[in-house]
Amino acid sequence: MERHARAIAPANIAFIKYWGKKDPILNLPFSHSFSMNLDNAKTTTEITFSPTLQADEGTINGKPLSGEELARTTQFLNSIRERAKVTDFAHIKSTNSFPTAAGIGSSASGFAALTLAGTAALQLKCTEKELSQYARLGSGSASRSIPDGFVEWIAGDSHETSYAVSIAEANHWDLVDLITVVEPDRKKVSTTEGHALAQTSPLFAKRIDELPKRVDAMRTALLEKDFATFGSILEIETWSMHLTTFTALPPMSYISPASLAVMRTLFELRAQDIPAFYTLDAGANVHVITREPYSIQVEKTLRELDGVVDVLPNRPTIGARLLDQEEK
Ligand code: DP6
Repeated sequence: MERHARAIAPANIAFIKYWGKKDPILNLPFSHSFSMNLDNAKTTTEITFSPTLQADEGTINGKPLSGEELARTTQFLNSIRERAKVTDFAHIKSTNSFPTAAGIGSSASGFAALTLAGTAALQLKCTEKELSQYARLGSGSASRSIPDGFVEWIAGDSHETSYAVSIAEANHWDLVDLITVVEPDRKKVSTTEGHALAQTSPLFAKRIDELPKRVDAMRTALLEKDFATFGSILEIETWSMHLTTFTALPPMSYISPASLAVMRTLFELRAQDIPAFYTLDAGANVHVITREPYSIQVEKTLRELDGVVDVLPNRPTIGARLLDQEEK
């Protein structure tokens, strides 16, 4: 018997970052983190478990799954197969709505969609909390792509206590993430390597000390829609993460000269009373966060900059959901 399901899930941008792993097997973070789901960066995943397959297989944007990616997928599927007491292998077809070359991480949307499709195909009745816990096993940040809108990942200290919850619906706040693409190629240092390197930096311990206060301040700013406070915490958090890369052993950086130019342009916009703030995940592309009334002006300014290849506007959206056969 074949078992089939299809799901869609958004990528997310982290406002407080998951950086460094307390447990690299369970992907347990050192701190709570916050994010917003992105409506123009989604992965659609179709999964078919079949008794005739000899191994897991599949494609991402038409390219066969292989190597590390395939190993990670199989490891993840084993956890849900174990719960369902099923041994069938799976065929997976995954498609990203955003250009793969845009350098936007697809592991969050990918594993969130795979979690929902996989558990549905195996007819596991999972709560949102359980889905978030499973998604975390595939990729830490995928735990935050399960709930709706604005999301907090409760760090926890075990598989059961580490999962994400929605703190506000997508329509809570009119934020716009203008993903400013400056480096369309795949990054040289993977996120997983970055997590491991983080703890070699002498600044990492300081970051961990500071985070509880910053986490509370970010939650309040998000809930109260205090954009100026939100923006200043966002930028400090960005440097708190990225300075651990410059000071790691060996040192490295995701930030490029073009990313810096974008960041500095935002200072000029702010001097003209146009509020827009930056953050970067593990890549050179800058997520410029502004509010709806300023979005067109900010996008226009960013597009005119040397080194900017594209600007991809994203708004808050719902989390992962199942799709019917016909649904797009
Ligand atoms: C910088 O979730 O991609 O984007 O658990 O190894 O898959 P793995 O890492 P991943 O790390 C995301 C790091 C980050 C910050 C964040 O999203 O919180």
